[in-house]
This record gives sequence, structure tokens and C-alpha cells, in this order.
Amino acid sequence: MSRIISFAWLLLCAAPATAQTGLNKKTERAVDSVLRLMTLDEKIGQMNQYNGPWSATGPLTNDGNLLDQVKSGKVGSMLNVTGVKRTRELQELALQSRLKIPLLFGQDVIHGYRTIFPLPLAEAASWDLAAMEASARVAAKEASAAGIHWTFAPMLDISRDPRWGRVMEGAGEDTYLGSLIATARVKGFQGKGFGDTSAVMACAKHFVAYGAAEGGRDYNTVDMSMRRLHEVYLPPFKAAADAGVATFMNSFNDLNGIPATGSKYLQRDLLKGAWKFNGFMVSDWGSIGEMINHGYAKDNREAAMLAANAGSDMDMESRSYTKELATLVKEGKVKMSVIDDAVRRILRKKMEMGLFANPYKYADLKREQDNWDNPEHRKIARDIAQKSMVLLKNEGSVLPLSTKTSSIALIGPFVKAKSDHLGFWSYDWPDDTARISSIWEAVSRKMGGDSKLLYAKGAAITGDDRSGFAEAIEKAGKAEIVILTVGEARDMSGEAKSRSSLQLPGVQEELVKAIVALGKPTVVLISAGRPLIFNWTADHAPAILYTWWLGTEGGNAIADVLFGDYNPSGRLPMSFPRAEGQIPIYYNHYNTGRPAMHDSDKFYRSAYTDLSIYPKYPFGYGLSYTQFEYSPVSLSAATLRKGQTLRASVTLTNKGKVAGKETVQLYIRDLSGSVVRPVKELKGFQQLTLAAGESRKISFDITVEDLRFYNEQLQYIWEPGAFKLYIGKDAAHNNEAAFEVLQ
Ligand code: NOJ
Repeated sequence: MSRIISFAWLLLCAAPATAQTGLNKKTERAVDSVLRLMTLDEKIGQMNQYNGPWSATGPLTNDGNLLDQVKSGKVGSMLNVTGVKRTRELQELALQSRLKIPLLFGQDVIHGYRTIFPLPLAEAASWDLAAMEASARVAAKEASAAGIHWTFAPMLDISRDPRWGRVMEGAGEDTYLGSLIATARVKGFQGKGFGDTSAVMACAKHFVAYGAAEGGRDYNTVDMSMRRLHEVYLPPFKAAADAGVATFMNSFNDLNGIPATGSKYLQRDLLKGAWKFNGFMVSDWGSIGEMINHGYAKDNREAAMLAANAGSDMDMESRSYTKELATLVKEGKVKMSVIDDAVRRILRKKMEMGLFANPYKYADLKREQDNWDNPEHRKIARDIAQKSMVLLKNEGSVLPLSTKTSSIALIGPFVKAKSDHLGFWSYDWPDDTARISSIWEAVSRKMGGDSKLLYAKGAAITGDDRSGFAEAIEKAGKAEIVILTVGEARDMSGEAKSRSSLQLPGVQEELVKAIVALGKPTVVLISAGRPLIFNWTADHAPAILYTWWLGTEGGNAIADVLFGDYNPSGRLPMSFPRAEGQIPIYYNHYNTGRPAMHDSDKFYRSAYTDLSIYPKYPFGYGLSYTQFEYSPVSLSAATLRKGQTLRASVTLTNKGKVAGKETVQLYIRDLSGSVVRPVKELKGFQQLTLAAGESRKISFDITVEDLRFYNEQLQYIWEPGAFKLYIGKDAAHNNEAAFEVLQ
């Protein structure tokens, strides 16, 4: 037996890592040769993923000796096992099993491993695809050096609801931007391809429509038209599949009455059928067993049957497959071909990763140490942290600050914070206090020797204690400039962190009021994992910088922007509501039969009688320390036909006194179609840096391919007719032109 296995391994040593889309014949032959040797129990073992014994990211099931199960080939993959030492220990156990099939180690490396990057929503605000790819690349290098083979990222869920705590983990509300980011992140994680020791397998999650959970409540029901599903929610996943993503994860929600985990349409017909995806599908944590709670499976056995037949290849932590699949196969309710297909997909990835040839390939102590404190990685983290911040307001050009300022008061609960910069889905390392600079430390380093820094916490993040206000007011009163930090704690946005109120927590906005009342030049920094609502602050504070959670280099990057070493360039990837009652809120909505054009259109219009229809800050919004002026849009032609290209151009001028980066955004509207079309859709963007006074012409090329949409029959078509085109700084401020598409 073992001779045959080692023959297969030899074969694999020679097989190059496959391109992610096509199949490599040698690899396939080797997979088949292993599959032929496997008993049913061993096959089911490969379809089983357990949490490691050290930490967990979901509700644990304790069912006996985990390590014995690994040793007897009952586990194909483990999650939450980190570090070379631990992964080696467990791999050694797996190699004691009869067929010695190595384990795959998966982990939520969402925005960095050792070096924590801005949270994904913050990175999306950079609109800088190369920077996002670089961040994922570093995460992959560090994680793979610690023995991790597989990250459960990127999360590709479009969301139009900031109450949903997981918006922090995605790319925001827009499908076009989200799809480009999906590709960039998959490329970053998977690097040069499987088998390269600095690559990890990526995982497109959560398949699908998890971000549309009703009421923004995590895990909640999703019911939507197939047209919306195809047009808005699926494209980022298709982009990831096209980029060669190794795995998919299904989602907790039901979609139109069928839990995604049990959906044959999504997993078998669409993903593995129409999209020809040859990687594997892992369930979300316990989501197979949760089909019982959904009321879709009557018991665990039925849940296992539905999930396996639907195409869920690996069971994360439900124990449904280990307990039930063998019986189901014997009863003929799950065909052996279904099991073989799942196991083949899992083994294929293990082989492509080179684990059969060397199960310890990624577990190298020296590499782990070399990647532990890498200054280059921190530089990349600081770069994207700078790019992720969004300047929301800068009245009277309070910012940037001078390092010669005589005195600055730093007020608020985040001034001396360290781990709060890391955000949800991040690791706390024992030496973080020394490694991470607080805002206080970073600002102190920038300031000249004669300047004075004052500090008061003022208030905690939550709670109603105002006893610190007096000291904060006193310190702020003595300073020339005030920097006020407010926001959410790092565990307030993330999984299971839905909030019905998006106001600044606790008494923080009251603290803002008390400080702003002093009339000093005040800069408010807002740390958060989602769009928050802070209307009073927005209307009264002179300057506001949205800093999200920026990771290990957060404090340094904030100081860079405060003092003008980096001119802010971030643009909002989600609309910021002015009240929770506006949610869902997104720029690419339909026009309706009674569109409200302005806030006074209250009656018999699609508006509120008691609230504006407009967001506080629109999608794409963000200021700079300079000002950009857009010329009117010019078009190369008034009409467009199939095979032709229409060129739309504007001239952009930097009217300010410093160089700055602008993100020029192109939106299109199809004025009438066989189904109604959004009032605007992002179709392109370009980032460019202009010196003070510089002008440059920017052009976008448009073809009918850019105008496709799903019609009632779900065909992806374009139609002739009248279109509008907009170029400008965000979804609400742009110059327009019109053209016609001819048959
Ligand atoms: C549940 C989350 O929904 C998923 O995104 C994550 O990867 C798994 N838990 C594992 O931690």
C-alpha cells in the first residue's frame, strides 16, 4: 500500500503547481491514485474540518479526543492552529494515519497576521488596488511562514446596511469596486500560485448574499430577486473565481428560502457548473448543522445529506459529515460520486500546495522568525493606512497642522489606545504594546521640541460617565489646537456585532459638543469599523478625519496625515447615512415612479416627511488638503455602436497650494431599459496625483460591454437607447454628458 502512495508522491514532486483554472493532468492522476486507496471513512475524514485546541472563532462542539481523530485520518483540515510549532505537532499526528494525508491549516487572516493592516473596509476606501494586493501579499507571507496554508478571506459580501457589523470585513456597497478589490486580494493572497511557500489559498466568502441580511442582523434571512442577486451580489464572487481563488465558503443565511449551505443551485449548478470552479467549498462554522434551526433539515442526517448533495465539500465544525455521511452513502442517499468529487477537490488543493511532497513545507521556524518583525511589511502597512483615511471636513483649513504649533491638546479614549487600532479579526501579540505607536506617541514624535502636548481622556468609549469632561475642557482650553479622538471599540464591528444605533457610543458626542463649544480649531478623529452617524459633530466640528481601524501602523499613519506628510486621498466605499431610518442606503438605487429630487419633495414622492433622502456623505466622497476642479465632460462621439469605443474626457486641475491625489470617478445611467436601471452605476475610476496648479486630461473608454445588465430572463445583455455619463469626485458631485447607443 505505502509503495503505491509513495509512487503517487513522487509523481507529484515532479508536477508543477497548476494554474488555478485549468487542471493539471499529472496532479489529477496523482489525486486519483490516492483516492483509489481510500476507504469511505478516510474519504469522509478529508471532508471534515475541526477547530484546533487553542482558540476558537465560533461555538465549539466537544466530542472526544480531537488528537486521536487526527491520528486516525478522520480530519482533513484544521482551523485556528497557528505557529510553526503547533502546526508541525498536528501535522506529525496526521502523518501517523494509514494514508498519511497531510492536514490543511486554515485561519481567518483577514487583514494581516503579524503586521495588522487597516480593516478591509478601510482599505477599500483607498481605492488603491495595488496597495490592497500588497497588503494581502504581506499577510500571506507572514501567515504562510507560520504554517498556515489557507486564509478565510477575502469576504466579498456587498452590503448596503451599516448596521451589519461585518461591513468592516468587506469592500462596501459597490459591485464594480468590490469586484476589482476581490481580484486584487485573491492575487495578493495567492501570489505566484500554489506551491510557492509565500502563498496561501484564498477563500471567497460568504457565498452568497450574506451582506443583505434583513434588518442588518447577522445570520438573518435574505430574500431578493434573482436579477439583483446576479447583478449586485454575485459579480465579486465571479471575479474571484476568474482570478483562480482556491476555495469558497458558503454562508449562514438562507437565500429565498434555501440555506446557502444547502443550495444546489448556488454551489453545484452555478459555481461548479456554469463557472467551472475546480476548488472546493467549505461550509461556514456549523452551517450544515444549522440547517436544522433554519427548518430546512429535520435532523443532522438530513442536513449532511442536503449539504453534501448540494456541493458543500468540507464541513467546518458541524460534525454532520463525520457522524452521518457513511450511513447516507450506505443508504444510497448520497452517492459515492458526490463523496469522490468533494474529496478529489480537497486533495487537489493539498497537492497543488505541495503538501503531499512535503507536509512541513510551510512550517519552517527560520522563515517564521524572519517574517516576524519585518520593517518592509510595516512600511507597506503604513502606506495603506495613510491611503485609507477619509477627510470628511476641513473648514478653515485647520488641517494639516504645523509641527511648530505651540500646544496641542489630545483628548478622548483613543489617544493612548494601542490594540484598539487593530480592530476586529486581528491578532494580539504579546509585544504589541512596544510595537504599536499610540496617537499620543506618534504625534509627540512629530512635534518640535518647544511644543507642548496635553492629554485628557475625557470619557470612555461606552458608558455615561461624564466625570472626565472637566479635565478635558480645561486641557483643551489651554491649547492652541485640539485633537479629539472618538469612535467604536474594536469589538463593536465584526461578526455578530450588528447595531441598531450607529451613533457614537456612550457620551462621546457630548464630549465633542463640550470641546467644540470652546471655539478652538478642533480636529475630530473617528475610529470605527463601519459608517457611524455623528450629525452634530459633522455640522459643528471644524475638521473631521475618518480613521477606521488602521492596524499596527495606525498611530503613525494618523500623525502623517495630521501634519501633512501625507495628503489624505481616501474615498468612502459606503454611503454614510444621517439616520438609521435611511437604511438601506446606497447610491445606485432605482429612480422609482415618483422620484424625490430634493428634500422639500415630501409628499407623493419617494421621500420621508421627517428626514432628508440624502446621505450625510455620499459614496465616493472624500476631501484633500488641496482642491480639484473638473472641466465639463467632452465625448468623442454622440453615439455608440457594438465594436466602437466612446471616449469621455475631463480636464482635472489642482487649484490648491499643495500636490494631491484625486480619484476621478465615472458613472453611467441607462435612461430607459427593458428592466429599470439604477440612477447611477460606477463604471470606472482613475487615481492621479497632480502638483499644485497642474492640469491633466483624463479619459475613459466605454464600449457596449460596459453597459450590460441582467434582463428579466437573466440574460446578460446591452440595449440601445439614451444614456447619461457622469465624471466627478463622488456619486453626488459630477459633470454630465449624454450619448445614445445604437443597435
Ligand atoms: C464564521 C465566519 O462567518 C467566517 O467568516 C469565518 O471564516 C469562520 N467563522 C471561521 O472563523
